[in-house]
Amino acid sequence: MKIVHAASEFYPYAKTGGLADAVASLSGALADNGHEVSVFLPGYRAALEHKDAAQAERVLRLKIEMGDQFLSGDVRMFSPKRNLKIYLVCREEFFDRRNPYGTGERDYEDNADRFIFFCKGVVETLRLADLQADVVHSHDWQGALLPMLVRDAERRHDVTLAVKTVFTIHNIAYQGLFPRTVFARTNLPEDLNSMDGLEYYEQVNLLKGGILFADRVTTVSPQYAHEIQTPEFGNGLDGVVQTRADDIVGLLNGVDMAVWNPATDPLLPVRYSATNLAGKQACRAELLKRCGFTAGYKGPVFGVVCRFAEQKGLDLLLANKDFFLKHDCRLVVLGAGEKRYEDALRKLVEQAPAKISLSARLDEAMSHLIEAGSDFFLMPSLFEPCGLNQMYSQVYGTIPVVSRVGGLIDTVTDADEFPATGTGLMAAPTAESLGDALTRAMKLFADPARLAAVQKRGMARDFSWKIAAAGYEKLYQESV
Ligand code: ADP
Ligand code: GLC
Repeated sequence: MKIVHAASEFYPYAKTGGLADAVASLSGALADNGHEVSVFLPGYRAALEHKDAAQAERVLRLKIEMGDQFLSGDVRMFSPKRNLKIYLVCREEFFDRRNPYGTGERDYEDNADRFIFFCKGVVETLRLADLQADVVHSHDWQGALLPMLVRDAERRHDVTLAVKTVFTIHNIAYQGLFPRTVFARTNLPEDLNSMDGLEYYEQVNLLKGGILFADRVTTVSPQYAHEIQTPEFGNGLDGVVQTRADDIVGLLNGVDMAVWNPATDPLLPVRYSATNLAGKQACRAELLKRCGFTAGYKGPVFGVVCRFAEQKGLDLLLANKDFFLKHDCRLVVLGAGEKRYEDALRKLVEQAPAKISLSARLDEAMSHLIEAGSDFFLMPSLFEPCGLNQMYSQVYGTIPVVSRVGGLIDTVTDADEFPATGTGLMAAPTAESLGDALTRAMKLFADPARLAAVQKRGMARDFSWKIAAAGYEKLYQESV
């Protein structure tokens, strides 16, 4: 099949979170299975500067209608591997910036224009380069206009650009909400500027457009597919999602074993596997050293790698700070995002620098080292569409301690509740329940035989993209 993806992140060209990993591994797996895959990304500075993009060639000059203006740009293409083409939709004014969405706390003020331009650039390329897509599959609010724009362009130009459109919700908390005046820049028919279209309480809601107008809607775990139809997790769009109840499916993400595999991971000082765990000890030693902790420390090491956002349950973690101060353990945190979390964690480090470490930055190598060198990986999320780190943890023999929400429910089994099959520890998304799980983690650590059994079971689980990609292939085939 000819499959087109459009997304705002793709590892290793642009990444702020799991979206980058998910889109890259899905499109890579589809290409490996023989499909012709084209992936559209905004031409961010980082993407253009990546070594793979050195061979990029300009395939199209763009003139994009945005309201009553025309904005120029171009599309560059390169192919990092067989069956996979990356198209960068470029316009310096919009994308020649350090970050994809904004700086620190603040989103760029022109994000609506940036991603409307991006989606329109994709549609223009589908049309002018005649890509003849079987499926156009877009992701999150940044790609949410595509299903509508594709059908609108087909009407205007009397062509077929895609047999079917698919839209994936990676996180319903980010909706692309903008002032109503933004609608004019979509150049869509005025009847879509209504309750049955993009209008949402006097604003424009781009995500809503993707949910309503794609032929098929997916999200990244079965549990989240169910949750987003409830007021508790639907972020105000549960009613909209419910209208698509028959067309929505939850397909669990996987682990890209080319990137996240302790036996081959080039970012680790020493590699290891379930049958030879010596390397994991070496990773632990390196992690202790990097954090400035005493070498040879024998107690439990808790790792955290996440965006600093409310979603990740950092408030629950901070509410349990006494646990880390009182007990004989270590806490290693890597993250970037909201300053209030960084400040609170920095304060905590000042209270116990010999036990607690904070790296407030994006650091791919450090994220791998934490997954490998920790005993437990903490993910006390308030909600979690899928979550990747709890899967990486299991693959790396690090026991996940997670909230009982979303994809975490689909990928972790509590070892106290299910002693014969457990691979982690689970808690309700409350400070108290997390505190209880941390205490249970200490108990588990004090029982080496049980600890090793839980670890081995996690390492034996198959989270590879084979299963996930097959789910998407089936969905595409059904649709076309
Ligand atoms: P989300 O997409 O909600 O952020 P996921 O668990 O799906 O959560 O994916 C997070 C991804 O981002 C993982 O690959 C994780 O290792 C990575 N990540 C998060 N924060 C950092 C950071 N500060 N440095 C490097 N990688 C990070
Ligand atoms: C989102 C979600 C995360 C998911 C990722 C990839 O960022 O927050 O749970 O794993 O997308 O689908």
